[in-house]
Amino acid sequence: MVALLMRCFIYPLALFLLSGAVSADKTSYRNAVASAHGLASEAGMQILRQGGNAFDAAVTMAMVLAVVEPYSSGLGGGGFWLLQRTGDDKPIMVDGRERAPLAAHRDMYLDSQGSVIEGASMNGALAAGIPGQIAALVYIQEKYGSLPLSRLLQPAILIARNGFPVDEIYRRLLGFRQDVIWQSVEARRIFLVDGDIPATGYLLKQPDLARTLELVAKHGRNGFYAGELAEKLAQGVRDAGGIWSVRDLQEYQVVEREPVQWQWRGLNITSATLPSSGGIVLAQIMNMLDQFEDISLTDTQKIHVLIEAMRRAYRDRAVYMGDSDHVGVNMAELVSRHYASQQASDIDLTQATPSALLDEAVNSRGNIMESDNTTHYSIIDSQGNRVSATLSINYPFGSGFVVPGTGVLLNNEMDDFSLRPGIPNAYGLTGGEANAIASGKRMLSSMSPTFVEGQDRLMIIGTPGGSRIITMVLQGILAMYQGMDAAAIVSKPRIHHQYLPDVVQFEPGALKDRQQDELTASGHRLKQLDRPFGNMQLILHDKASGQTSAASDPRGIGVSIVD
Ligand code: GLY
Repeated sequence: MVALLMRCFIYPLALFLLSGAVSADKTSYRNAVASAHGLASEAGMQILRQGGNAFDAAVTMAMVLAVVEPYSSGLGGGGFWLLQRTGDDKPIMVDGRERAPLAAHRDMYLDSQGSVIEGASMNGALAAGIPGQIAALVYIQEKYGSLPLSRLLQPAILIARNGFPVDEIYRRLLGFRQDVIWQSVEARRIFLVDGDIPATGYLLKQPDLARTLELVAKHGRNGFYAGELAEKLAQGVRDAGGIWSVRDLQEYQVVEREPVQWQWRGLNITSATLPSSGGIVLAQIMNMLDQFEDISLTDTQKIHVLIEAMRRAYRDRAVYMGDSDHVGVNMAELVSRHYASQQASDIDLTQATPSALLDEAVNSRGNIMESDNTTHYSIIDSQGNRVSATLSINYPFGSGFVVPGTGVLLNNEMDDFSLRPGIPNAYGLTGGEANAIASGKRMLSSMSPTFVEGQDRLMIIGTPGGSRIITMVLQGILAMYQGMDAAAIVSKPRIHHQYLPDVVQFEPGALKDRQQDELTASGHRLKQLDRPFGNMQLILHDKASGQTSAASDPRGIGVSIVD
C-alpha cells in the first residue's frame, strides 16, 4: 500500500517524452571515448575495436578506472549509467547507487545530545554504504553487452596485478586523506609506501584487488555479493566498527529507471533521475531561465538570473529530494514549466535574493571541499549506442578503509544522507526529511550523466565535482547551445551557487572585473576559488557532417580518443 501511494506521487515521466524536435539522424557514427584516465580510455577503445559495443566498453572502462583512480570510484562504490541503445525508443538509467545497510537508522551518526559525531559518516567502515558498482556492471554486461564478462575485466585485472604509475592527482589526493588512510592497516599497506606518499611514477600494484576482480570474472555478481568474498566484506566491516551483514550484499538490487527527460530551446535532454537530483535540478534551472528568454538582459543580468535559478533549484533539492523508492517526491511538478514560472516570479533583476529568505535559514558549514573525487566517462560506438556514466566512492579515497584481504576500498556515501535535517554534508549541501537515513535507502546524489540531442548535434556529457556537478553540466549544455566545440565546452571557466552556503563560487576567468563589481553591488557574495574544479568528459557528434569529436577537461589528466 505504502509502495503504491509512493508510486502515485511519482508521476510518470513519460509525460515529458520527446515530441519530434530532433531530425532523423542518417549519418554514420564513429567509436569515441572520453574518460579521466588514459589507461581507461585506451582499454575502452580496444574493446570497441575488437567488436565490443559501447556497453561492453562501459564495463571495461569502469573497472580500469576503479584500479587507476582509487581516489574516485571503485568496486566499493556505485554510480549511474545512462544508456541509449540504437533502435530502442528510450534511454534508460542503470542505478547502481549504494544503499544504507539494513541495520542503518536515521540517528546513527548522532551522539546522545543529538549532535553529529565528527567524522563518523566520513571516515572508516561505518561511513560505507552497500556498494552497487559490480552489480550494475554485471547487469549491463548481461543485458546490453556482447562480450563475455571475463574478457571485459581482463584489462583491469592486468593493471591491478602488474601495476600502474601513480600521478600527481593520486599524490595530491592521498595527501589530502593521508591521516584517514593511515588508520586502515590495509589501506596504508596498499596506498602508502613506508607510511608516505609514493613518488610520481611509482608502480602501484594491487594484487588483492586483482584476485577480487578474478572472482567477479569467474562468478559474476556472486563473486562479490555471495560466498567467500561477501563473508569477508561483511566480517571485515563489522570488525572495524561497521554494520554490514552478508544479507546486505545478497539483497543489493540494481534498478533500471526511466531517466528525466525534457525539452529546452530545441534540445532534447536526458539526465539522471532520483536518487540523483541531477536531472530534476537541471530541468528546474533551465525552465527558470526560459522565463527570461524574451527579456533583454545585460551580460551581468544573465549571470544574475543564472545564479538565482541555481539558488532556487538547489533549495528544492535540499527540501524535497530523496530516494523516491522510500519517500514521495513530486517529480512531475518540480520539473514542470508552471512551477518554474512560480519559482522565477520573485527573481528581482536588480537584487540577489538572500537564500535565508527562501526558506527558514539552516546552518552552513560554508567550506566546499575537494572535488576530484568521483569520475565520469562518455562513450559512443560505431552503431550509435551511447553511454554517459558517473561513478563515485564519494570523498577522495572514500572512507579510507580497505576490507582486509579483498583490496576493496569502501565508499563514504553515507555522508550524502542528511545526517540531521539542516546540517550540511562535506559539500556544504543541506538536506531535509526526504533524505534522512533509513534501512536500505539510497542516499541523494548530484551525479548527472547526461545526453543532449538537437537538430544538428548530439552531446554525451558528465563530470565529477560533488555538489557542483549539476551546475557544471548545466554550463556545458548552455555552451553547446551557444555553438561551442567540444574542447571549448570542457575548458570554459565555471560559476556555481547551491543555495547554501549563500555564495557565488567562480573559477579564475569566469567573471570579468566589471561583472564582479555589478554582481556584488546587487547583493551577491562572490568567492573566487584557488583551484579550478571539475573533470568533464565529453563527446560531440555533428549530424550534418557525420564528424565526431571528444574532449577531456584540461583541469584533469583525462584522455579522449576518436577512432
Ligand atoms: N557522492 C557525490 C554524489 O553522489 O553526488
